[in-house]
Amino acid sequence: MSLPKDFLWGGALAAHQFEGGVLETSKGLSVADVMTAGTKDTPRIITDGVEEGRYYPNHIGNDFYHHYKEDIAYMADMGFKCFRTSIAWTRIFPKGDEELPDEEGLAFYDDVFDELLKNNIEPVITLSHFEMPYHLAKEYGGFMNRKVIDFFVKFAKVCFERYKDKVKYWMTFNEINNQMNYKNDIFGWTNSGVHFNDYDDPEKAMYQCGINELIASAKAVKVGHEINPDFMIGNMISMVPYYPYSCRPADQVLALEMMHQRYFWSDTQIRGHIPSYALKMFERKGWNFEITEEDKQALKEGTVDYLGFSYYMSNTVDSTVNKDVSRSLDGSSPHSVDNPYIKVSDWGWGIDPEGLRYSLNAFYERYEIPLFIVENGFGAIDIKEEDGSCHDPYRIDYLREHIKALKKAVEEDGVDLMGYTPWGCIDCVSFTTGEFKKRYGFIYVDRNNDGTGTLVRSKKDSYEWYKKVISSNGEEL
Ligand code: BG6
Repeated sequence: MSLPKDFLWGGALAAHQFEGGVLETSKGLSVADVMTAGTKDTPRIITDGVEEGRYYPNHIGNDFYHHYKEDIAYMADMGFKCFRTSIAWTRIFPKGDEELPDEEGLAFYDDVFDELLKNNIEPVITLSHFEMPYHLAKEYGGFMNRKVIDFFVKFAKVCFERYKDKVKYWMTFNEINNQMNYKNDIFGWTNSGVHFNDYDDPEKAMYQCGINELIASAKAVKVGHEINPDFMIGNMISMVPYYPYSCRPADQVLALEMMHQRYFWSDTQIRGHIPSYALKMFERKGWNFEITEEDKQALKEGTVDYLGFSYYMSNTVDSTVNKDVSRSLDGSSPHSVDNPYIKVSDWGWGIDPEGLRYSLNAFYERYEIPLFIVENGFGAIDIKEEDGSCHDPYRIDYLREHIKALKKAVEEDGVDLMGYTPWGCIDCVSFTTGEFKKRYGFIYVDRNNDGTGTLVRSKKDSYEWYKKVISSNGEEL
């Protein structure tokens, strides 16, 4: 037994974290372009526009904008079947509310997609990966404002029409469920362009924005299918499964309730309606959200073709614990505790390959639609040796164990899995911390946390290893 022959091996990145080309092009500022660099313990600051004297790591990323041919040549050499990236909304509509799209931005993605296709690499495209126009956040209040639904759908339509013969695989919003951690500003800002903590009831504000985004996602899916019925359009969920800490029944029920926070999003996007446990919760809290009959119809008509998800770690919850998680960057809940059976990375992310098999089964049992692992990987500090080599056995170990787990899910459990695109295949800026030293790549980029470095690319040991994994279709690990 083996993986399907057309299994989509590849790698993943997102425009704001690697493209660069921010200030010298027609691109407008996105919400990510006003975020400074932080660390695991020092949050990134969201500034009011670009402020003099501050360092914004996403303005250069790893400078793919000027290296894309070289980078795609590396991907082709590794044997990538696909490459997941995003379209920066602000290259197409710099402010978000323009009448007409920007031709320079559209042409850039024509060039990138052409280069990929020339190398037999399928583009897998996320429409919104934490990079909505800053102008929409600042002047319209982000997804709190229903006008932003229409701006997103218009942006999606322009992309679908322009690239309909170049791109088949799409996703609407990256990790739409991150904002469930509404206490930490970074998630609401990057998902919805909103500071939930500015509202009297931040949780309610988060749900209002989330519902508006779910409606926007569904409307975009419908438009996409009308433009090209062959499109495969997915959603994208951050899957951090919650395990009960003990066999105490209260821990079981707590884990189930916590999982509702993940499923709320995928249930709506896959089943086409808001799930009953959420409606009951809204009722209990006395929340009356604006959801028209037309919105309900849109949700029903805009269900996705596949479920894309990221998987980095699992989390464990204990019903006797309740703590503050407003600074957490790792999918923790107020009830999270250390899992004594798993180790963690330098950034505190629990390493749990079996959790990937568990997640694949949990999703497939629930939905029975194709799944796509569009992010997985190991953020670590890599050392480039004097001779240019970089030995990253920890990354190979992490990926090997996760690939073994996904193979079990496919070969033993019968999960329908479309592909696997490890995160940050070329070193890029970390989303949560803005650091460059939190590296995930097979390709090392000479760039430091303070913005120094030559941006020169070189191969890590994991490069040749992953190349062999792809050429053997996952048999040689
Ligand atoms: C996911 C995001 O949350 O995890 C990516 O979709 C992000 O944008 C990735 O980069 C890894 O997180 P980090 O903070 O280590 O870069």
